[in-house]
Formats: sequence, C-alpha cells, structure tokens
Amino acid sequence: MAEEELKPYLITDPAEMSVRIDELRAQGKKIGLVPTMGALHLGHLSLAIASKNECDVTVVSDFVNPTQFAPGEDYEQYPRNLDADITLLSQIGSDFIFAPSPAQMYPRGFEANVHVGGVTKTLEGAFRPTHFDGVCTVVLKLFNITRADVAYFGQKDYQQVCVVKKMVADLNVPTQIAMRPIIRERDGLAMSSRNRYLSDDERRQALVLSKSLDKAEELIKGGERDASVVLDAMREIIATAPSAKIDYLHIGDPDTLGAMERIAGSVVILEAVRIGSTRLIDNKLVERK
Ligand code: PAJ
Repeated sequence: MAEEELKPYLITDPAEMSVRIDELRAQGKKIGLVPTMGALHLGHLSLAIASKNECDVTVVSDFVNPTQFAPGEDYEQYPRNLDADITLLSQIGSDFIFAPSPAQMYPRGFEANVHVGGVTKTLEGAFRPTHFDGVCTVVLKLFNITRADVAYFGQKDYQQVCVVKKMVADLNVPTQIAMRPIIRERDGLAMSSRNRYLSDDERRQALVLSKSLDKAEELIKGGERDASVVLDAMREIIATAPSAKIDYLHIGDPDTLGAMERIAGSVVILEAVRIGSTRLIDNKLVERK
C-alpha cells in the first residue's frame, strides 16, 4: 500500500474485503491477517507489527464474535472502541481494518459450525464447551474472506493456537499460522482486554498469575521433575490472593497439551484463574533440549 496512506482502510462488508484482497493478490502481494476482537492493546499491536514486517499487506480484523461466548459470559459487556482501534492501527501503518457487523458475518439462516475434536476438549474447552467451535468458525471465515497467506496469533491464548493449527492441518487450509510471544505489563501481568474489568485491588491480586508461572519456571529450570511439586508451588502463590479461584493449572506437552506428571523436555504451563468475577488466563513455555 502507498506510504502516505497512514490511516487503515476501514471495510465492513465481507464481499468488499475479498474483492480488495483479490486485487492485491493478483499483484503478487503477501497478505497478513491479525484476527482480533478489538479493544486493542500492545499485545494485539505486536501481532500487527509482525505482519507489517513480514507481509506486503496487513489486515486487522476487529470483530467481537458472538458465537464464541456462551450465554452468561461477557459478550455484551466486552469493550468495543473502533475509533480508538483505528487510531492505534494508524500509528503502525496497518493497511486494512475489517470490522463487519454480527449480521454480516452471521446472516439470517447461517447454519455452519466448525468443530475440531481432541485438543478442544480440555482446559478452556472443559470450562467453555462451545467456545472453540465459535473461534474455529469465525477464524475459518476470516481466512476465507481475507485469503490470508499468514495469520498471526498470540501465545497469550496458547490453546487457541493449538486448536487453529489443528483445524488448518486437518482441513488443508492454506494459511500459515504464526505464533508470537505474550506482551506483558511492566509488572508481569499479561495484557488483556479483560484486565479493565479489574478493580485496583484485584489488579494487584492478578499478579499471582504471572508470579506463579515465574516460580514454576524457576523450579523446572532448577531441576524439579515432579509436576505435582511445581503445581503445588503455583497453588501456594495463587492462594495469597484472597479473591483468586483456580479454574485449572496444567503442565503439558507443548504440541498436544497432554498432561505430564514427570517433566521431560519442553513443557507449557497453562493456568486460568478467576480474580473476583474476572477470568484471566496466562501461560509459559519452558523449553529444554
Ligand atoms: P482477542 O482476545 O482480541 O485476541 C486477538 C489476538 O491477540 C489473539 O491471537 C491473542 O492471543 C492475541 N493477544 C491478546 N493478548 C495478547 C498479549 N498480551 N500478548 C500477545 N498477544 C496477545 O483471541 C481472540 O481475540 C479471538 O478468539 C479471535 C481469534 C479474534 C477469534 O474471534
């Protein structure tokens, strides 16, 4: 795209998005997609910057996807601020912002559902049984609408990356999946659109997530091989936050997420903890040769 076009081009119509992309693909441009639900922060922007650096055209999708929220979850409450998102994306030079309405993505009579088995059943999937169907359905639609060569996802939602990789492999989707690191606040809290739900006191308590992961890494790097010892140490740290309730703590294989009792090789440590009424997730990869 032309250098002077700093403001991303806003498109809401899926058919128009596909036409614009087809023109660019015909010129041989490599298309990068960053799927988001808006309320952008530096975590999202890091993905858009990666796409900017590695692709010719960057599309950031900005769509709060209703099908991945269960009844009673925070769909209505979820923060939406398209103007602020456009301003942020102008600063990094994203080419397109694709912000369809729910009716444009799911018109009357919509019947499809993309279900991936296996890796969707545990962890987030156990607590949110319909969540990954909603994610896979919208992500596949976004891939098809934008014909992306590469799609960028954050390690923040580690299981989501595993699920999307499995969907792409099983369904021969030609989009390449790129995972990028978790961006954290200065004190360690993983950036999340949901952090704004936290009161000041809860915000302080939320540090137990990253602190417990740091402790787990320290123990594993120090030679601890018994996963239950590591998980107990994490539980002890999380218990220091009076409003914290653990949904799960898990040490697993980085590819399959299968639980590990004896730690051997690289592992991923995943956690979901509610701080008051806000549910937060975080994780850490501990790589060992
Ligand atoms: P959303 O929560 O908006 O996140 C969009 C992307 O930003 C995801 O790939 C997520 O992992 C990444 N991200 C969020 N916080 C991050 C952080 N602190 N550091 C690095 N990356 C971070 O995930 C979704 O939206 C939706 O499920 C979506 C894939 C868009 C489908 O609707």
